[in-house]
Amino acid sequence: MKQFTLPRTDLPASNVILGMMRIGELDDAEIRMLVKTALDTGITVFDHADIYGGSPHACEARFGGAVRFSPAEREQVLIQSKVGIREGYFDFSAEHIVSSAEASISALGLDHLDLLLLHRPDALVEPDEVAAAFDALHEQGLVTAFGVSNHTPGQIELLARSVRQPLIVNQVQLSITHAPLIAAGVAANMADDPQSVDRDNGLLDYCRVEGITLQAWSPFQSGKYPGVFLGDREHYAELNDVLDELAAAYGVTPTAIALAWITRHPAGIQVVLGTTSPSRVREAAAGSELRLTRPEWYRLFTAAGHRLP
Ligand SMILES: NC(=O)c1ccc[n+]([C@@H]2O[C@H](COP(=O)([O-])OP(=O)(O)OC[C@H]3O[C@@H](n4cnc5c(N)ncnc54)[C@H](OP(=O)(O)O)[C@@H]3O)[C@@H](O)[C@H]2O)c1
Repeated sequence: MKQFTLPRTDLPASNVILGMMRIGELDDAEIRMLVKTALDTGITVFDHADIYGGSPHACEARFGGAVRFSPAEREQVLIQSKVGIREGYFDFSAEHIVSSAEASISALGLDHLDLLLLHRPDALVEPDEVAAAFDALHEQGLVTAFGVSNHTPGQIELLARSVRQPLIVNQVQLSITHAPLIAAGVAANMADDPQSVDRDNGLLDYCRVEGITLQAWSPFQSGKYPGVFLGDREHYAELNDVLDELAAAYGVTPTAIALAWITRHPAGIQVVLGTTSPSRVREAAAGSELRLTRPEWYRLFTAAGHRLP
């Protein structure tokens, strides 16, 4: 498992993260087994959000009820959560950020969060309020570092004018089949090619320039059709052929190859797994340090339907 230090921090992290959005249906023993499997493979980062689980803090409470880290383990793991999505609206008010982060910490059974992300851009954001909330959480030792999710460069710049802590992470949807962040750049300036349309204002390059680590959510979801692209021969026959061929060549499963397609990108992207299956965690983790060649990476890219001009 590739380990690195998150840029602009001294926080150690694995390049594969275990996401906790879907653990609501698991019992305590299954949650413990999932987390133990992750730790055994070298995954040290766990991704939560206040809204996961249907009611506020439900999945965080399931995790907190099932998993107790020893003090030594707690020093090694990085626990992150997100705030800002509420029932029917988004809320970056200082009061909500602080109270929700405190409730996340309590539900998780922790004394602090290592990283807190603003989940989705709030159209009514007041950057000074965000700054006040982050200061309060940071000064009390409740949150070590801060980031965003699903934010454009302009939205990050706006926040950064007020927020005193660096925004170190931007968590965004990215998989081989849902890759507009990458595909638009490849087709830059092609007037008749819809792939060239940059809907996110150069988000990927901006994050690289600023040293903001991207985290890829839904790494195996199609993004276009329901479910994962792995094994979906109705919509992704050519892609699955290439995944199978490379998996056989490297002695891993297609899941590992699909993960390696993301980690091969030089932006140093972390991959947020959503599986609730320990065996799939192991399969995916096998791709953490697998370095695809350039031709292999581009073959997967085009087999997924992206074009080269
Ligand atoms: N920041 C955001 O806005 C945002 C949005 C969504 C998610 N997230 C985060 O990203 C994490 C991952 O999202 P995700 O769950 O959509 O990602 P994912 O890993 O692409 O999808 C996992 C889901 O696909 C299923 N699946 C079916 N076949 C699979 C296969 N062959 N390999 C792997 N999975 C397969 C899994 O079922 P099994 O459980 O049976 O394996 C699970 O339900 C979440 O847990 C959450 O932490 C963040």
